[in-house]
Amino acid sequence: GERGPEGSGVSGRGGGTGFVGRALTQLLRSRGHQVTHVSRQGGTDRISWEELSHSGLPPCDAVVNLAGENVLNPFRRWSDAFSREVISSRVETTKTLAKAIAAAEQAPRAWVLVTGVGYYRPSPTAEYTEDSPGGDFDFFSRLVSSWEAAALIPGSPARGVVVRSGVVLGQDGGAISQMLLPFRLGLGGPLGSGLQPFPWIHIRDLSGIVCHALEKESVQGILNGVAPSSPATSNGTFAQELAAALGRPALVPVPAWAVRAVFGAERAVMLLEGQRVLPKRTLESGYHFIFPDLAGALKDIVG
Ligand SMILES: NC(=O)c1ccc[n+]([C@@H]2O[C@H](COP(=O)([O-])OP(=O)(O)OC[C@H]3O[C@@H](n4cnc5c(N)ncnc54)[C@H](OP(=O)(O)O)[C@@H]3O)[C@@H](O)[C@H]2O)c1
Repeated sequence: GERGPEGSGVSGRGGGTGFVGRALTQLLRSRGHQVTHVSRQGGTDRISWEELSHSGLPPCDAVVNLAGENVLNPFRRWSDAFSREVISSRVETTKTLAKAIAAAEQAPRAWVLVTGVGYYRPSPTAEYTEDSPGGDFDFFSRLVSSWEAAALIPGSPARGVVVRSGVVLGQDGGAISQMLLPFRLGLGGPLGSGLQPFPWIHIRDLSGIVCHALEKESVQGILNGVAPSSPATSNGTFAQELAAALGRPALVPVPAWAVRAVFGAERAVMLLEGQRVLPKRTLESGYHFIFPDLAGALKDIVG
């Protein structure tokens, strides 16, 4: 939402019940905004996707989409059916929200989508800004392209922002919650060679960037959601810093074949390769990172 201090704004959001959504909801409410979630599950302050399609968008100042089937769910085997779910849970929810925005009597002022840095081609050397090409070489890059294309609403007065996020680091969810047990046991370590870039962002900065995009009228277009020091972080340095933050010395490397065996070759790419990404437009737009450095971010999360 985007109203003055006296009135609170309202924002309708898809995927608001998830890891990032919970943090963003808390931040928006703390800033006096009202938040309604669009969810597959019932509950207070929630509407269903069916309700949204049939009755349209409830009056709101802004819309955010965070919905998406968890790609790295280790309990789901990578299959055609699962990959279709990964795509449709993102592209169809985005289309549904875009359609509702286009049809709204009073269009919301802002429309924010969170996608991923999987848009850019993994490379040990290339550095990417928001202006770099990408989006057409593997499953994830094509997914991001169709996801972002689904958000386009020709002629809409709603200000469109896409945040391409790196690996989101926070408590109670995301990558760190999956890594905590092995690392606590001293069995954590770099994946594969460990030399691959590890694009990351603290969850408070990702919610902070979305909030900044909602509240600041001049923000528009693509913003990379990665920490400023993220291009200097490799998978190996991340593993070392996480072990250090937990006070654990042991670093057991996980061989690439084991990562492929658990996640399947397609998804393993996300873990065994990575992108060096700079938040160029994000910084230019005036966003100040709370956690620019990895050691500080990890100390906050697991320290
Ligand atoms: N976490 C990361 O490291 C990361 C990195 C880059 C990009 N992203 C993107 O950021 C967004 C939010 O990430 P997150 O970590 O907060 O995700 P998450 O915790 O897995 O949850 C996202 C929400 O999506 C909804 N959802 C899940 N499967 C769905 C399906 N099949 N159909 C419709 N809705 C579904 C769920 O809401 P309901 O159960 O209420 O319906 C869930 O709460 C995702 O789109 C993700 O791809 C995340």
